[in-house]
Amino acid sequence: MDNRPIGIFDSGLGGLTCVREVMNIMPNEDIIYFGDTGRVPYGTRSSSTIVKYVRQDINFLRSFDIKFIIIACGTASSAALPHITTEYDTDIIGVVDAASKRAAAETKNGIIGVLGTRGTVNSGKYAEKLKKLDPGFKVISTACPMFVPVVENGYADTKIAEMLAEEYLENIVKSGADTIILGCTHYPLLRKTIRKIVGSSVTLIDSGAAAADDAKSIMETRGLLTDKAEKGRAKYYVSDTVHGFEELGSLFLSKKIDGDVSKIDIEKY
Ligand code: DGL
Repeated sequence: MDNRPIGIFDSGLGGLTCVREVMNIMPNEDIIYFGDTGRVPYGTRSSSTIVKYVRQDINFLRSFDIKFIIIACGTASSAALPHITTEYDTDIIGVVDAASKRAAAETKNGIIGVLGTRGTVNSGKYAEKLKKLDPGFKVISTACPMFVPVVENGYADTKIAEMLAEEYLENIVKSGADTIILGCTHYPLLRKTIRKIVGSSVTLIDSGAAAADDAKSIMETRGLLTDKAEKGRAKYYVSDTVHGFEELGSLFLSKKIDGDVSKIDIEKY
């Protein structure tokens, strides 16, 4: 049993889709969330910059007495986590392993599509992990650079999003993939639009939700779950203005943000 909070971070607000799942499956856990809103997007940056940012994000979360870290960002998990795993004594997981395992368990025909930022797709980490799970898998990865701004500007359920999805998903649909990993934490907000393009028989894997499930089973095994009976509390930190966080954040969280939001200087960490 461990009553310390769980640390969760993302380049911005997309990681709140993972927070949502953590709140659903581990409602009594306290959460410290950091969204690097001052430096988002990570998806277009070089691997060395992402690694630098991720170290600072982790250092910030570790300035609290946290018990576990979830990197709720596809780009940070792909481009940075493999470089830094041995640097900390806190358990840290990302979305890539969790979503890959879930996709491997779901696919029937072994053809798996991966959607992510340029950083995620260029890292090749999803393909690497999936091939490790089964060398016979065929993996088709597509970078979708326009999806994040479309979601952040409130266009997820519009014709514009649909046109982009049609374009981005063309190769994956042609390949006959029966499972698609939403490898960026913003993409669950595009689920309806993506579903329209791929049809009802394709399984869509929410990478943030998969990471939350993985975190729960790891914490269970290690005796890290809380034994508190009351609902957990969340505190939110951002690196840019807190203005607008509640409105946009509640979109990702699918409910009202209930908890303090503070701005911090991430460059200090
Ligand atoms: N959070 C990022 C991800 O999941 C998307 C936004 C960004 O490019 O930073 O890949």
